[in-house]
Order: sequence, then C-alpha cells, then structure tokens
Amino acid sequence: MREAAMNSSTALSLFVIFLFCAAVQSYSKWSVTYTSKTVCAIKGSTVKFYCTYSHPHKEDDITINVEKTFWFTKTNKDPVDLKTQEEYAGRVQYQRTRNRCTLIIEDLKESDSALYKFRFITNKIGGSYTGEPGVQLYVSDPYLTVKKKSYSTQLECSSWCPLPPRSTYVWYKNGKTMNTLTSIYSGPYSYADSMACAVKGHEDFPSPLFCLGYCYNVTYSKRRICAFKGSSVTIGSFYSESYAKSAFWFSPGRSEEWRDPLNPENLIEDSQYAGRVDVTYTTRQSNLTITNLSESDSAEYRFKFQTHRFEWGSDLHGTTLTVTALQVQVTKTSALQDTTYAELKCHSSCTPAVYHYIWFKNGQNLGHTESTYKVPINTTDKISCAISEHEEYRAPEVYAPVSPFVSVNSSGDISEGKPATLRCRSQANPPAYYTWYKKTKTSALQRVSEDSQLFLSSIQLSDSGDYCCVAKNQLGESQSKYLNVDVKYAPKRANVSQSHREVVEGISVNLTCSSDGNPAPNYSWYKDNQMMLQGQQGVYQLTSVRSEDSGIYHCQAENQYGLIRSSSVHINVEYSPRLPSVSVNPPGEIAVGGSVNLTCSSVANPAATYTWYKESTTSPAASGQMFTIEAIRREHGGNYYCQARNIRGHHNSTLYLIVVLSSATPAVAGSITFIFLFGLFFSAFIIFRKRMASRQTTETRERPGVIWTNHSGVSLPLH
Ligand SMILES: *[C@@H]1O[C@H](CO)[C@@H](O)[C@H](O)[C@H]1NC(C)=O
Ligand SMILES: *[C@@H]1O[C@H](CO)[C@@H](O)[C@H](O)[C@H]1NC(C)=O
Ligand SMILES: *[C@@H]1O[C@H](CO)[C@@H](O)[C@H](O)[C@H]1NC(C)=O
Ligand SMILES: *[C@@H]1O[C@H](CO)[C@@H](O)[C@H](O)[C@H]1NC(C)=O
Ligand SMILES: *[C@@H]1O[C@H](CO)[C@@H](O)[C@H](O)[C@H]1NC(C)=O
Ligand SMILES: *[C@@H]1O[C@H](CO)[C@@H](O)[C@H](O)[C@H]1NC(C)=O
Ligand SMILES: *[C@@H]1O[C@H](CO)[C@@H](O)[C@H](O)[C@H]1NC(C)=O
Ligand SMILES: *[C@@H]1O[C@H](CO)[C@@H](O)[C@H](O)[C@H]1NC(C)=O
Ligand SMILES: *[C@@H]1O[C@H](CO)[C@@H](O)[C@H](O)[C@H]1NC(C)=O
Repeated sequence: MREAAMNSSTALSLFVIFLFCAAVQSYSKWSVTYTSKTVCAIKGSTVKFYCTYSHPHKEDDITINVEKTFWFTKTNKDPVDLKTQEEYAGRVQYQRTRNRCTLIIEDLKESDSALYKFRFITNKIGGSYTGEPGVQLYVSDPYLTVKKKSYSTQLECSSWCPLPPRSTYVWYKNGKTMNTLTSIYSGPYSYADSMACAVKGHEDFPSPLFCLGYCYNVTYSKRRICAFKGSSVTIGSFYSESYAKSAFWFSPGRSEEWRDPLNPENLIEDSQYAGRVDVTYTTRQSNLTITNLSESDSAEYRFKFQTHRFEWGSDLHGTTLTVTALQVQVTKTSALQDTTYAELKCHSSCTPAVYHYIWFKNGQNLGHTESTYKVPINTTDKISCAISEHEEYRAPEVYAPVSPFVSVNSSGDISEGKPATLRCRSQANPPAYYTWYKKTKTSALQRVSEDSQLFLSSIQLSDSGDYCCVAKNQLGESQSKYLNVDVKYAPKRANVSQSHREVVEGISVNLTCSSDGNPAPNYSWYKDNQMMLQGQQGVYQLTSVRSEDSGIYHCQAENQYGLIRSSSVHINVEYSPRLPSVSVNPPGEIAVGGSVNLTCSSVANPAATYTWYKESTTSPAASGQMFTIEAIRREHGGNYYCQARNIRGHHNSTLYLIVVLSSATPAVAGSITFIFLFGLFFSAFIIFRKRMASRQTTETRERPGVIWTNHSGVSLPLH
C-alpha cells in the first residue's frame, strides 16, 4: 500500500528531476535512470516502465553513437533481448525517443514478475551500459479490500497493486451483484449486510467480506484448489445461519443444465456428478466432496443458503477447482556419442513448487527429485513422473513410437479411379507425427505425405508400389512394415501378333494376344467377328492351317474391371494352285479356219499364272489364262494342257483334245475315230458280257470328233 502510494505521488517529481539532471549533465556520464524501482500490476493488464539514459559525447577521440538498445531480465551471463525470448513473444514493445526509453509489456502473467533492466550498446569497444538497479515488477491477482471512507457512508474498493486505469468494478451485497461499477459504493447497505467488491474480469478474486455489524455470510476455506485426476477433493465453506431453510452447493458452469439459468440447482442432482458427490453439514459449515475427479470437473463451486427472511445470493465467487493430470514434457533431446539424452519436465497445470518429484524409467524409481531431468534414453524406455506421496497419480509414460500399424481403407478393391486411404497408427507419447514413404522399383524411398493418413482421391496405376510410414516423436522413430498397393484395372490395350508373317497351307501358326490389366485378363478370339469356341488363352493355335482359315482375326481381353477389343490381323493362307480346269469355246469340233478359245482356271493363292502346252512339246504354246487359236489348221489338232503356277507351286490340267475337221472330208476323221472307238467299245462289251452274262445294259454315248478325257495320264491317239 505504501509502495503504491509512493509510486504514484513521487514518480512524476522524480521523473522531472531526472530529466533536469540529464539535461544539465548533457550526456557527459554513462547512466540509465529508471522512473520507478518497483511496479505492481495485476494479471492480464499492461505495464509501462520509463527510463532515461546518457553517455559522453566523445571518449578517447571517438564520437560515441548508440547502436542498439534493449530491455532484458533474468541475470544470465549475457543480457538477452526480451523481444527474442519465447515467453514474451508478441507481448513486448520498446519506445525510444532521444534519450528516453520505454518498455511496454502486455497481457501480464505471474511469471513476468522479475527485475527488468535497460541496456544500450554503442560503437565504442566495450561501450555497453546497463543501468542499475532496474525495475522490479510484481504481477499479482487483484488483492482488494473494502473499507468505509472516513466521515462518509460510502465504501471504497482498493487494491494494494494499482489497477489499470478505467477499471470497472463489481459490487456484491449478500452475494448478489449490485449496479455500481465504480470503486466507490454509495449504498444502500445496512449494518447487517455483507459487502464485497471485485474488478470486472477478475471476479474470481473478490475482496474479503466487509460488514459493519453482525452479518450473514458465506466464506470458503480456499479460493483455489488443485487436485489430481482420479482423486477426491473436499471443498469447504462456512456460513452463518444455523436455521437455514435450504442450503446446497452448485456450479455456475452448469447453468445450461438448470431448468432456469438464473436459478441454481443442487449439484447432487446433476447427472455429471451422479454418485460422486457427498455433502456434509454442521450448523456453521458445509463440505462438498467430489470423488473420482475428471478434468471436466474443473469448475467453480459455490454454496448458497436461504432462511425464512434472508437469501444469500449466488453471484459471489466461490472455490475454483482445477483437476490436473501430471505430464512428462520432453523439452529437448540431444545425442552424445551413442547415447540419446532427453531433457524432461514433470508438468502439471497447477503443481505447488515445493513438492518433491519421483521419476520412473520402465517402472523403476530413478531417485531423482527435481521437476526437470536430463536422462539417457533408448527407444524402448518408458519414463514417467509423480509427485511424492501421490505416486498413484503418475504421469502417463513417455516413449518413442512402437512399430506403427498400417492399414488401407477403400470401398472394395483398390482399383483405378476409386478413392483409398492409407492409415498409419502407432502407440507413442508424446503423440507421433507421421511420414508416408513410397518405394518404387526404380527409385529409392520417396516421401509422399506428412500425415498419418495418405489419401488417394482417385487411384492411378502409378500409385502401385510398396508404402511404409515412419512414426516419430521427440524420443525416437519407428518404421512400419511395407504395405503393398496393387492397383487393379481393366485392360487398356490389346493387340494380336502372329508367329509367322507368311502363312502357307499346312504350317502351324500361333496368334498371340497381348494385353495388360490387373488381374490378368482372360481372352476370347474372333474370326471375321464370329466368336470361336477355342481360345481362353492368350495364344490361339492354328495347327496345319488350311485355306479356310484365312480371315480377319481379333481378340478381346477381359477381366472383372472391363474389356477391350484388340487390333485385327488378316491371316492370308497361301497355297499352290489346285487342279486347273479347262473350258473351251466353242465346244466340239472345229473346222479348219475357225478359231477356238481355251480357258484355264485354277484356285490358288496368290492367283496363278498360266502357261499352255501342246502335248509332247516342251516349249510353251502360249501364256495367260485364255489361249486363243485362230485360223485353225489341221496341224493344230492334238492334246493341250495348261499349267497353273504361283510362288507356292504349280499344277497341270488334264489334256484337252482339239479335233480339227477337214473341210474336204469332214466325215473321215470322224469315221476313223468312230470305227476305232467302236472296236474298242465292242471288245470291252464282250468282256463285260462274259462277266455279267445275266445282265444286258448297254449304254453308249457317242460324240464324234470330241473326246473328254478325265485322266491326265491317259492320252488318246488322234486319226
Ligand atoms: C461471518 O459470520 C460469522 C458467524 O456469524 C461471523 O463470526 C463473522 O464475523 C462473519 N464474517 C464477516 C466477514 O462478516
Ligand atoms: C469439513 O472438512 C474439514 C477439513 O477436512 C473438517 O475439519 C470438517 O469437520 C468438515 N466439516 C464437515 C461438516 O464435514
Ligand atoms: C472414474 O471415472 C472414470 C471415468 O471418468 C471411470 O471410467 C472409472 O470407472 C471411475 N472409477 C471409479 C472407481 O469409479
Ligand atoms: C534400453 O535400456 C534399458 C535400460 O534402461 C535396457 O534394459 C534395454 O536393454 C535397452 N534396450 C536397447 C534396445 O538398448
Ligand atoms: C473407410 O473410409 C470411409 C470413408 O472415408 C469411412 O466411412 C469408413 O468408416 C472407413 N472404414 C474404416 C474401416 O476405417
Ligand atoms: C503389340 O504389342 C507388342 C508387345 O506388347 C508391342 O511391341 C507392339 O508394338 C504392339 N503393337 C501395336 C500395333 O500396338
Ligand atoms: C505355338 O504355341 C505353342 C504353345 O504355346 C508352342 O508349343 C508352339 O511351339 C508354338 N508354335 C509356333 C509355331 O510358334
Ligand atoms: C472372363 O472374365 C470375365 C470377368 O472376370 C468373366 O465374367 C468371364 O466369365 C470370364 N470368361 C471366361 C471364359 O472365363
Ligand atoms: C475368244 O475370246 C475373245 C476374247 O474374249 C473373243 O473376242 C472371241 O470372240 C472368242 N472366240 C470365240 C470363238 O468364242
């Protein structure tokens, strides 16, 4: 209180004197002068420290210039600029105009309570200067008191630590909020009323109750209680009415569960606390006990009572319970030779500093009692900590990730175009972070994701491969097994190839259908678009091909994901000419001077070429399919045959006899032929008659002048 008063009243005058002195000295001395030596501020507010500094203009013939100024705290060996310190990040500002220096710290925390000093560095070697003694900052809760102003009925709310300007106040009468918002309360109140005040935003730190006479009141044995998760806690309150009509505990945080949010309900009836709450009463005291605490029980608890004529309001702050679990924090790891050291901290959101700690490695007490610990670890070690006498509330063990488990989630098969998710899970504390890698045939491990899940929205063929994930935390890392991703897909291409480029009758030919697809497709074969029965395989065998096998072939590759039709191949079976047939135009005997067309035709592939021969002459008589003999002379008579030829071979036709009628004795040749034939026929008839005496069938077909022969080997004499 006295300190605060001094701060406010003398600060200004001191500041003026310092300014004056600084001006008089005209930067002749190395100095830093602080406006205040001690500053108090409440949590969450903003504080400003002021100072001035000076230095000689010139020293050792060097003109001195200030190069850097900063504020620092903590008496490290070397002063460290506050702005570079993590715990002040974003909360610190410097203001410097000429030789004045200002430090602003926002959103104050209790841990900011420290000694702050200003330092400036000049161009002169060793020309750094820190002003002593610095400013001591105390950051606290707003400890308030209510007192009656002298010679007045007004009440005043004051704090030992100066409150931020324009603070708003909250006044309570018998636990109920009043309308006054200033530090002065002008009533009404009576000798029987319990008064209290608080600063808006800090209602959890109200002043103690103030009473002029005999007052009903509720006070709590503790403002804040910290308890371990799973443990039990008892919150006590004192109250001053033995004939209460009703008295119960409630938690304002549960107001949403109440029938009327303004009308508190007994905690005993709250389902969240069912079976875990016990309340005891004596005439002046009540205890609330909650067992098997969970973190969601962290809340504020208030007590309320009512008599026939009086009601204690529900607005004044009660006891804040924080349920905490110990936690081993890994601050740092470092490797020295083959050993890894972990710097650990046994952390709790509200652990009193005075406790001894117990550290466990794989369940063994390590005999270390500090809250921090630098310990050698390996990948299988599990480390935990506890507070002495509370060993049952140990922190969960910390350890490196153990063998990550990988799985794939896809709807059905992993097939092209479908989505799939690869998941990696590993037990680890602190929780692991994950990296997915992919191994392909060609390259080494390739990083594909920095998440525990690898999401493939539309699977591509190129996604096939072996995947693995690495789980890592500060204490180590572990690699999963490989997960093979085998992407299924419909055949994309198919083509037919043939074992022989030239297909000749009689050889064996294989047609091979090559296609992709996963799983391997089955095949069907088509000839001229007709499906063939044979050929489930990729190879279609034509053993000893025949001319009928010529055609256009294709195959179709199919698996359960789809099908594709291949390109087509044309199989052209080549063969040598078949027996040629000869036709003649005009048919019959030909008179001298007439003309005749002989036509030879033979089935062949490729098409045959034709050559005509007259029997018993070696040189060809003509070439070409049609042989025309014009201006027939007698010498033209005789046997003719044609030869059909292609690259695969040749074939001769049967003989064809051309009979030339002499114009003078047209019948002679015919009668000679007739007589001869008759003789031949007659002798055959006799032999026939002798063999088959009973039957007499004589049939003769005579065609004088022209004889068809059907055997190439037999030739008949002319004349
Ligand atoms: C609260 O009530 C008790 C009992 O009636 C009394 O002794 C005590 O002085 C009261 N406290 C205040 C602050 O009025
Ligand atoms: C409340 O708890 C305190 C401390 O544990 C104990 O001394 C007191 O007797 C308890 N009162 C009731 C009413 O249970
Ligand atoms: C304590 O509460 C947890 C859930 O928060 C429950 O699983 C456990 O069984 C409870 N223990 C006891 C002893 O009731
Ligand atoms: C890890 O260290 C523990 C003792 O702390 C030891 O028992 C264990 O064999 C070590 N394991 C390995 C893999 O080094
Ligand atoms: C697989 O993923 C789908 C969609 O993302 C999800 O609904 C389903 O629960 C997942 N299944 C498994 C076993 O993870
Ligand atoms: C047919 O497949 C073979 C082997 O896969 C390939 O070498 C060839 O180029 C393909 N032909 C066509 C026309 O696609
Ligand atoms: C045709 O395929 C069969 C079986 O694959 C093989 O035994 C044969 O030698 C092949 N024939 C030719 C002409 O390639
Ligand atoms: C070929 O595969 C498809 C798809 O898997 C199937 O429906 C069909 O029956 C198969 N054909 C044969 C002959 O196996
Ligand atoms: C023989 O063929 C040629 C050409 O086709 C034709 O002009 C001629 O009249 C034919 N000769 C006879 C006797 O049919």
